[in-house]
Formats: sequence, structure tokens, C-alpha cells
Amino acid sequence: MLICAANPCLKKQRLAVMGDKGKIIIGLLIFLFLLTFPFWYGRGKSASLPPLSLDTPEIKKLTTKKCLAPTDYMRASHMELLHAWREAVVREGKIFYVNPEGKKFAINLSRTCLGCHSNKDKFCDVCHNYAGVKPTCWTCHLVPEPKEGKP
Ligand code: HEC
Ligand code: HEC
Ligand code: HEC
Repeated sequence: MLICAANPCLKKQRLAVMGDKGKIIIGLLIFLFLLTFPFWYGRGKSASLPPLSLDTPEIKKLTTKKCLAPTDYMRASHMELLHAWREAVVREGKIFYVNPEGKKFAINLSRTCLGCHSNKDKFCDVCHNYAGVKPTCWTCHLVPEPKEGKP
């Protein structure tokens, strides 16, 4: 701008502002780099989830191979369900869970979840290892003897 060019003092101020902008931009770039890092880091590695085994006696007995709630919900939110279960038992003394279809299940991590998924190492663990999560429930909650195959 004219006034600015004619006034060295103003020009200096302007440069100072530019300097800050530069820092902000560099800051933003570093932020973006860190933000997106997990997405492109390790891209070369195999990225697909290993198969999850449903080959257990209880699941074989089911006429329709369904979890206690819809699969998509279970995949995305089983941790919230389990946390809600714990609250229900510990805070409210409830012992049954009624699913969206009206079916009743005992609220029990070891007996209900691992009753059907009695192959924790080939089901829960496969996915958790893949996702890098280590639920610390098993120091207190029992993992029953693995059962696979024939009902
Ligand atoms: C420090 C020990 C401890 C740890 C760790 C722990 N729990 Fe529990 N949990 C208990 C106790 C004690 C009860 C109460 C048992 C009862 O009243 O039947 C309970 C009850 C529950 C219940 C309801 C009853 C049952 O047996 O399923 C659920 C569900 C549950 N916890 C889920 C979890 C989950 C999920 C984790 C891991 C994220 C976890 N707990 C970690 C001690 C623990
Ligand atoms: C009545 C037997 C039964 C019970 C009880 C049960 N499941 Fe399932 N679960 C299944 C079956 C069968 C499937 C596969 C459903 C499908 O392929 O659509 C499944 C699927 C899942 C999935 C999705 C897997 C994927 O393909 O992404 C998760 C996660 C899961 N169960 C966790 C749990 C947890 C946690 C509990 C306890 C709160 C539980 N299940 C209780 C039978 C059961
Ligand atoms: C389809 C993949 C998948 C399967 C199958 C699966 N999980 Fe998970 N689980 C996850 C992911 C991913 C997380 C972490 C989610 C998060 O941090 O938001 C998780 C978290 C959890 C947590 C919460 C841990 C915490 O510290 O709060 C519990 C408890 C849990 N899973 C139990 C189970 C059990 C029990 C089974 C088997 C019956 C199972 N999961 C099967 C993917 C899976």
C-alpha cells in the first residue's frame, strides 16, 4: 500500500506481522504433520485385519449366527456396552441385559461374552493385537478354558 511504502516505520511493522504469520504457518504445518502422522505412517505394512474365528461350540449351536446386539454395533461399541454392563451390575444390581430384539442375556463378561466367544485368543485378542489395545480386565475377570470346534 502507498502509505506503507512511504513510511518505513509502518513497513517495519508490516514485516514483523509477516514474520509472525510465517511462524504460525510453520506451526500449522507441524501440527498437520503430527495430526496426520498415524494415517500415513506404516502404510507399507499389511493393513488388513486377520480373520476372526467364530468356530466355537456355542456359536455352532446358534441357528442364526448373531451376536447379542447387531454386528456393526458390537464391532464399534462393545467396549461401551461392557462398561455399561459393569455399571449396571455394580451400581444398579441388575443381572440381565435385554437386547434390541427382546432376548435376555446374563450380564457377565466371562460367562456370556466368552461363553460364545470361547476362543478369546482367536477372536478378541486377534483384533486387539491388530488395533494395539490391551484391555486390562483379565487380571480380575476369569478367562475360561478355550473351547473350539464341535458343539
Ligand atoms: C481390579 C479388578 C477388576 C478389573 C481390572 C476389572 N473388573 Fe470388572 N468387575 C470387578 C468386580 C469385583 C466386579 C463385581 C463382580 C460382581 O459383583 O459380580 C466386576 C464386574 C464387572 C462386570 C459385571 C459382572 C461380570 O462378571 O461380568 C462387567 C461386565 C465388568 N466388570 C467388566 C469389566 C471390564 C470390561 C473390564 C476391563 C476394561 C473390567 N471389568 C476390569 C473387578 C474388576
Ligand atoms: C450368543 C452368542 C454370543 C454372545 C453371548 C456374544 N457374541 Fe459376539 N458374536 C457372536 C457371533 C455369532 C458373531 C458374528 C456375527 C456376524 O458375523 O454378523 C459375533 C460378533 C461379535 C463382534 C464383531 C466381530 C466382527 O466381525 O467385527 C464383536 C466385537 C463381539 N461379537 C463381541 C462380543 C462381546 C464383547 C460380547 C459380550 C458383551 C459378545 N460378543 C457376546 C456371538 C455371540
Ligand atoms: C473387530 C475387532 C474387535 C473384536 C473382535 C473385539 N474387540 Fe474389543 N476392542 C477393539 C478396539 C479397536 C478397542 C479399542 C477401542 C477404543 O479404544 O475406543 C477395543 C476395546 C475393548 C475393551 C475396552 C478396553 C478398555 O480398557 O476400556 C474391552 C473391554 C474389549 N475390547 C473387550 C473385548 C472382548 C471381551 C472381545 C471378545 C469377546 C472383544 N473385545 C473383541 C476391537 C475389537
